[in-house]
Amino acid sequence: MYIKYLHLINFRNYEELNIELYKGINIFIGDNAQGKTNILESIYYGSLGKSHRASKDKDLVNWNKREAYVQLYVSKNRLDKKIEIKVFREGKKGINVNSIKLKKISELFGVLNVVMFSPEDLKIVKESPGHRRRFLDIELCKLNTNYYYNLVQYNKVLEQRNTVLRNCRSNDLGMIDIYDVQLSKFGGTVIDYRIDYINKLKEKSQVIHGDITSNKEKIDFKYITDVKEGSSTKDELYRLLELNRKKDMEKRITSIGPHRDDFSISINGIDTRSFGSQGQQRTAILTIKFASLHILKEQTGEFPVLLLDDVLSELDLNRQKYIMNSISEVQTVITCTGISDIKSYLNTDIKVFNVKDGNVIEMNS
Ligand SMILES: Nc1ncnc2c1ncn2[C@@H]1O[C@H](COP(=O)(O)OP(=O)(O)OP(=O)(O)O)[C@@H](O)[C@H]1O
Ligand SMILES: [Mg+2]
Repeated sequence: MYIKYLHLINFRNYEELNIELYKGINIFIGDNAQGKTNILESIYYGSLGKSHRASKDKDLVNWNKREAYVQLYVSKNRLDKKIEIKVFREGKKGINVNSIKLKKISELFGVLNVVMFSPEDLKIVKESPGHRRRFLDIELCKLNTNYYYNLVQYNKVLEQRNTVLRNCRSNDLGMIDIYDVQLSKFGGTVIDYRIDYINKLKEKSQVIHGDITSNKEKIDFKYITDVKEGSSTKDELYRLLELNRKKDMEKRITSIGPHRDDFSISINGIDTRSFGSQGQQRTAILTIKFASLHILKEQTGEFPVLLLDDVLSELDLNRQKYIMNSISEVQTVITCTGISDIKSYLNTDIKVFNVKDGNVIEMNS
């Protein structure tokens, strides 16, 4: 799939933007704070209905305006799709696909798939489990609306259970048992999907990582959960929730479940988060991003659009070349502050845009 056209009104620092994107590599060049990431953010927003960086939708609306508008024309399986999102300063939004209003945000998932890779993503390798869970949740939402449904339900019940635990009344035990039945049903499904995703990630990553490191290093992943393998995840999660009820009542919080899970990333058997060198950590995240790209291709039949925000300058020449050689069939949107080093190894046609203070000018490549 690829994006043909992007139209923005009052999105961040763009009052109005109309650009035709190239099916191959598109490069947006500009100094700092000109609006490069804002372009990628608008594309990401058109894909998932959420920003990759702003927690509140209203932050996307130009400071001097009341509403923002994002429109994307996408070519998918040779069919055209028009995605439109209106965001209001009060925080509400409306999404249309092919001029039909969506009832649920999950109806947007899969219309346009993107993989975003930015320097921030290093947090997936280096920082707390929440970053890794978020990565898994986003990738699985792109692949499966049933995953999203179970995750949303799980989080709703979890919040209710935690509210009861905070208020801590002993006659609420019956209520907790009802929550635990629901939590184990939704949470068990979430865990099963995640384990399946980690297995796919491992399979794809080992090939990619082998390529990048000339098979000198072997990357591995393992889903980390208290729920033991072998038995039914749902039954085992219920058993653990029941077992931990007393402790949870004392601590006033739910201590077990997919909201506490994690996954490990190791290279040659050594934990990358604690012991990996900077270069190994960067290679790991590059591998994970490309593996997720290939998983999307395998599951949906089409490559997603790849968004590279300022990452090339952070990688050594070998890794930059690896990226460039891997994206021949993938529409890619790259941002950077200069093009000189990229041009030396680009061997395909590219479209270059200059970004200056919320204006974009197409350049001759
Ligand atoms: N809601 C908004 N309304 C107007 N301007 C905004 C809004 N949100 C952010 N901006 C401005 O948009 C500008 C461009 O931001 P952006 O993150 O796209 O820069 P960039 O070109 O990617 O820079 P860098 O190279 O530093 O990453 C920033 O100066 C920021 O202040
Ligand atoms: Mg930026």
